[in-house]
Amino acid sequence: MATRIDEIVEGIYRISTWQPQYGITFNQFLIADERPALIHTGMHDLHGPTRKAICEVLDPAKLAYVVLLHWEGDENGGMAQFMKEAPNSKLIGSMLSIQLNAIGFGLAERTRGFRDGETLDLGTRKLRFLETPHVHHWDSMMVVDEKSRSLFPSDLFIQPADQPPLVTENLSMPMLELYRAAGIFAHELPIRQVVDRLEKMNLAWVHPMHGGSFQQNAFSNYARALRENEFAYRGMLLGREIAKVAPM
Ligand SMILES: [Fe+2]
Ligand SMILES: [Fe+2]
Repeated sequence: MATRIDEIVEGIYRISTWQPQYGITFNQFLIADERPALIHTGMHDLHGPTRKAICEVLDPAKLAYVVLLHWEGDENGGMAQFMKEAPNSKLIGSMLSIQLNAIGFGLAERTRGFRDGETLDLGTRKLRFLETPHVHHWDSMMVVDEKSRSLFPSDLFIQPADQPPLVTENLSMPMLELYRAAGIFAHELPIRQVVDRLEKMNLAWVHPMHGGSFQQNAFSNYARALRENEFAYRGMLLGREIAKVAPM
């Protein structure tokens, strides 16, 4: 398992682990500020290499926020380990992630749910939250760092294969193929509505959870691909065909 850490924008680090069995990288993002934040933790088993990478920048015990963008193993599977080491840290998620999942799983303490438009002050930076329901899950949200105009979209704009920290090649077609094979979106509509919204935000950077980060000039390639092609669930789940229910 190879994990690397690269500073992509000043103070924003991509911690990336290539997982050949899935054919994608799993990226976590560390924002080094007065109150440091980790944007997704990776799965439970990625805690060791992710922690080691964080140590190159700051003491993981100083993490103030562990941010999950929807409730799923690769988003927050490592939350218990990171929060144990950082006793003052808080778990941050969408209002739904916290209400439905964190509290439901017995994590009512040290959690905070955010609604669309609310912000979180890290010191010199501010994170702004966007609720993006059904862009994969109904509790999904995205985060924008206003200082660097960076978007953290989780599983939107992902690209397969072992991608470098900065991607300049147009990988929008492989992205669509991956979506069709993995079946992570139920319908195109909520994704296209969010793409329209993001396009108006004048973002400088996009930092997907799987693949590489890209800059503003590449955004339109991915936006167009999502608008003009079908990519929602059509019977494939993680590359496996699901039997259709026989008519009664
Ligand atoms: Fe996900
Ligand atoms: Fe993911």
